[in-house]
Amino acid sequence: MKGRVVVITGGASGIGEACAELFHNEGAQVVVVDKDALQTSHQDLVLEGDVGDEKTVQAHVNVILKNYGRIDSLITCAGFSTGTSVTKTSLDEWNAVLQTNLTGTFLWARETAIAMSKTGGGTIVMIGSQLAFAGGKSNAAYLASKGAIVALAQTMAIDCAVDRIRVNALIPGAIETPLLSRSFARADDPDAARVRSISRHPLGRLGQPSEMARAILFLASPASSFTTGSCLRADGGWLAG
Ligand SMILES: NC(=O)c1ccc[n+]([C@@H]2O[C@H](COP(=O)([O-])OP(=O)(O)OC[C@H]3O[C@@H](n4cnc5c(N)ncnc54)[C@H](O)[C@@H]3O)[C@@H](O)[C@H]2O)c1
Repeated sequence: MKGRVVVITGGASGIGEACAELFHNEGAQVVVVDKDALQTSHQDLVLEGDVGDEKTVQAHVNVILKNYGRIDSLITCAGFSTGTSVTKTSLDEWNAVLQTNLTGTFLWARETAIAMSKTGGGTIVMIGSQLAFAGGKSNAAYLASKGAIVALAQTMAIDCAVDRIRVNALIPGAIETPLLSRSFARADDPDAARVRSISRHPLGRLGQPSEMARAILFLASPASSFTTGSCLRADGGWLAG
């Protein structure tokens, strides 16, 4: 990834932060986009703002192109969950989750693909979820957003192949990040929720953000040069069982 310009949304925490560290160590020029852009030592440029806001996304892409002239890889990690069932989900909650998780992914992918089409191509990695395939209770808006991200990655892979842009989705299991901690904290018994979650993985443990970053690196790099429109499971075996 030496010298490549890599943009990571949600790059200030969890999986995105681990990506920033790994891609930085691989020699990439790392741009972190986040609504809470904490300074870490792993990025060359930090852009603070909401991924679900079209004008902000367009302004951020313009700043990146002004600074670097190109985007080689985009990784869309920005996302959150609220943990409510369909009948308890208000329209405001639904819209907020979809706006960040799905629309934020769409906006960044669209603007980046337009830029990539003028510079010879690139790679886009979207973050889905094992729950998009396995289901799961009390997380209606989140699961819907993740299912749609998988579909978006597939259709975009077809649309953008002509521009030499590869688009893939990573399918994590439960990964030890602040998002997962918040999700356990919402349960009546957070310790029991953690044990239950561990038991869903044949590998018998939760995943680490650094393990997701390595799988994302594969999808973003030339190592996966004939892979597009795919879902790479890095889920500790959750979906196998
Ligand atoms: N942790 C897991 O178990 C798990 C499992 C499957 C999928 N995922 C997905 O992986 C991605 C990263 O999750 P994580 O666990 O690292 O979470 P995290 O909470 O640690 O990090 C998410 C980051 O996204 C940022 N963000 C949220 N909304 C934003 C917005 N509107 N605009 C800009 N930035 C925004 C947050 O500030 C945060 O820095 C998410 O899409 C999540 O759905 C996580």
